[in-house]
Parts: sequence; structure tokens; C-alpha cells
Amino acid sequence: MTDSAESIETIAVLGAGTMGMGIAHVGALAGFQTRLFDVSAEQLERAQATTARRLNKGVDLGKVTPEARDAALERIDLQGSLEAAIDGVDLVIEAAPEKLDLKLDLFGTCDRYCPEHTILATNTSSMSVTEIAASTQRPERCIGMHFFNPVHLMKLIELVRGLETSEETIAVAEAVSARMGKESVVIKDYAGFATSRINAMIGNEAFYMLEAGVGTARDIDKALKLGLNHPMGPFEMIDLVGLDTRLSILNYLHAKLGEKYRPCPLIEQYVKAGRLGKKVGRGVYDYTD
Ligand SMILES: NC(=O)c1ccc[n+]([C@@H]2O[C@H](COP(=O)([O-])OP(=O)(O)OC[C@H]3O[C@@H](n4cnc5c(N)ncnc54)[C@H](O)[C@@H]3O)[C@@H](O)[C@H]2O)c1
Repeated sequence: MTDSAESIETIAVLGAGTMGMGIAHVGALAGFQTRLFDVSAEQLERAQATTARRLNKGVDLGKVTPEARDAALERIDLQGSLEAAIDGVDLVIEAAPEKLDLKLDLFGTCDRYCPEHTILATNTSSMSVTEIAASTQRPERCIGMHFFNPVHLMKLIELVRGLETSEETIAVAEAVSARMGKESVVIKDYAGFATSRINAMIGNEAFYMLEAGVGTARDIDKALKLGLNHPMGPFEMIDLVGLDTRLSILNYLHAKLGEKYRPCPLIEQYVKAGRLGKKVGRGVYDYTD
């Protein structure tokens, strides 16, 4: 059984979207051999280009040395095959879309193909780590590692302890988080954990306010930033998270925690219209200029 970050040399990140590309970035910069898998070849290319651009910016700002940037980019191995991505790895971090069936399927596959010692982590924002772990024969080596967006800038990783997660697995996840330069907190497995439960509620309420004409999106964002000292407005935040991702989280929390999380119909309309946020150039706000 692995018991420290030193025992982790190779990680596989499943999903190269908003979160997966950021997790691969911080993993590679921390010195882990990092395989980045996605079902979309186009998304893998986008992830590589975005990571290079972010690391270059880090160099320009004096936060990353050119040598560290080059080494990090070298360490990221783009993979279009799941089996090749997880072959022999020490840690898997799943960052696929927020759909339970998909996560159960990926964990089942990882359990079948990964070595016995491999730890399986999910970056789910809200879903039951215990249930995801139960799709494997190694629930004690399954954990939630909930990163924040943008991963290379945000300080926290929320570690989620499933019912069967072992102390050794938590210790390794804490050590890996520290090596990635992050703080961590260990939270009990409960729908929405500590952060998404609050954040989804604020964002949903902001949409109900927009629907009711309480104010424009800009004015509601301005009110929360300047009046309540939030670093970002709720609409700026949901555009960053992705409206589709936020809607999946709300649907899950609604099913698990009840009426207070019923998604605002206006969010559903935005998602149906394809206004998924910054990642597609348009969400509540327009980013095409
Ligand atoms: N967006 C956020 O701010 C945020 C923050 C914390 C956690 N999360 C969580 O991270 C996870 C990913 O969210 P995201 O925002 O990066 O989503 P995203 O839509 O930006 O990216 C998901 C990626 O997964 C890929 N994918 C689809 N099916 C796959 C499969 N079978 N195997 C591997 N990859 C597959 C897609 O091609 C896409 O590139 C979700 O569970 C989400 O709840 C999101």
C-alpha cells in the first residue's frame, strides 16, 4: 500500500476539459509524470495549447522558471486511449462530466485495468464518493479530490472521505495536494460537500433574481462583489464553472437535498440555447470580443 506522495510517480487525469487540463498542469508542474486522457482529440489539443499559454504567462510573471515550464510540458503525455492512459499508473484523477453513470463506468474500468496499489480519485463537485467507490473492488483506495477553477490559481483541494476510504488513502491525497502546492481540507461524503453546496445555492438564487427582474446580471454581480465582498459575482462564477456543469450539480443536489436546490428554469434555458459559459465564448456574458 502506498503511504506518501513519494510513492506516486505517475498520474492519469481522465477528461481534459476545464478541470482536467488544470489538474494535469499542476500535476506536471509538481513533478508527476502525467497522462491526460480525453475522448475528444480536439479537446486534448486545446488542453495542450491552453496549458502552454498559462505556463508562459507564469514565466512572464516570474512565478515559473522557463526550465520548470519546459519540464512540465514534457511530462504531460496526451492519450486518446483510456487503457493506455491508466496502464501502470499510481493515481487516477477522474475529471469527466458530472454524470454519475459515466463516473461509475470509468471507475469500474480503472478498477479492472489498474494495478492493485492505484488510488482512484474523482473530481466530482457534488456526487457520492461512496457510491462511485462501490463500483470498484477497492473502495478503501477511492477518494474525492475536488479541485477548484482555475486549478493552477486556486489554493484549495477539498478531499472527500467516502464511507470506506482508508486513512492511508487520505494521507496520500493530502501529500499529493501539498506537493501540488495546495491546501486541503477533509470533508465527509455528503451531497455537495462543503463548497458546492453553498456555491450552487448562491448561483441558483442569483438566477431566480435575474428571472424576477431584481437587477441586471452586471448589477447583481456588482452588488455581491462590492457590497458583500465576494471576489467574483455569481454570474461571473457560473460562466467560469460552465452552466451545463452547474445545472448537473443542481439536479443532483435537488434529488438528494430537496426543493431548495430546484434549478431555476432560466439556467435550463441558457443550457438549451448552448450558452454554456466562458468555455464556449458565451454564457450569461459574451466573451467573443
Ligand atoms: N467547472 C468547474 O468549475 C468545476 C470545478 C470543480 C469540479 N468540477 C467537476 O469536474 C468534472 C469535470 O468538469 P469540467 O468543468 O472540467 O467539464 P468539461 O465539460 O469542461 O470537461 C469534461 C471533459 O470530459 C471529456 N469526456 C467526456 N466523456 C469522457 C469520458 N468517457 N472519459 C474521459 N473524458 C470524457 C469531455 O470531452 C470534456 O473534455 C465534473 O465532475 C465537475 O463537476 C468542475
